[in-house]
Amino acid sequence: MQTEPSKSTNPIRALCDQFNAIHIDHLERRWISISLLVIGLFVGIITIDAFFHGVNPPSKVETIDSASLHLSEEFAEDNLGVSVNQNGEIIIRMVAGRYSFFPKHIDVPAETQLTFRWVSMDVLHGVHIPMTNMSTMIVPGYVAEVSTQFPSPGEYPLLCNEYCGLGHNHMWSNISVIAKEDWKAPVKSSIKGDQQ
Ligand code: CUA
Repeated sequence: MQTEPSKSTNPIRALCDQFNAIHIDHLERRWISISLLVIGLFVGIITIDAFFHGVNPPSKVETIDSASLHLSEEFAEDNLGVSVNQNGEIIIRMVAGRYSFFPKHIDVPAETQLTFRWVSMDVLHGVHIPMTNMSTMIVPGYVAEVSTQFPSPGEYPLLCNEYCGLGHNHMWSNISVIAKEDWKAPVKSSIKGDQQ
């Protein structure tokens, strides 16, 4: 079987040659180029966020039964909120449900590594805290774990960023971030997983 001799060994060059050989109106050509540039720009933004701002998807896939969170040890009502594990790490457990985040209010220290563990009790929610790397989907049936630090004390809004129903735009709450030296650690966690 005979094959056509290729004009260029560089595959990108060959693709450009093919593209140039097709008749496309110059306006259309311009818009194709603009679309490709926009795609390139978005890929660039994602790359910069991933490598320089530490934005990443949850690292592990951990499942949980959303319908029985109240019966689970970790996300039972009494265990929600801020806790400190045996290694001195601060773990914050929160439940998202239409249309709020529970517990309603928490105090956390500034300039300290915090690990948030989120679950949904009903449908898909999201959580976004502006000016931090906290932005994750909260998918029913999975635990979303994100670590972050708050640079300075203040009130930080907690916003749901996935459409979850008619009350979606009212689904927000806030976190009080207080100076590291003024923050009092809660009693050591009694959750089994925290005591390893
Ligand atoms: Cu929860 Cu939108």
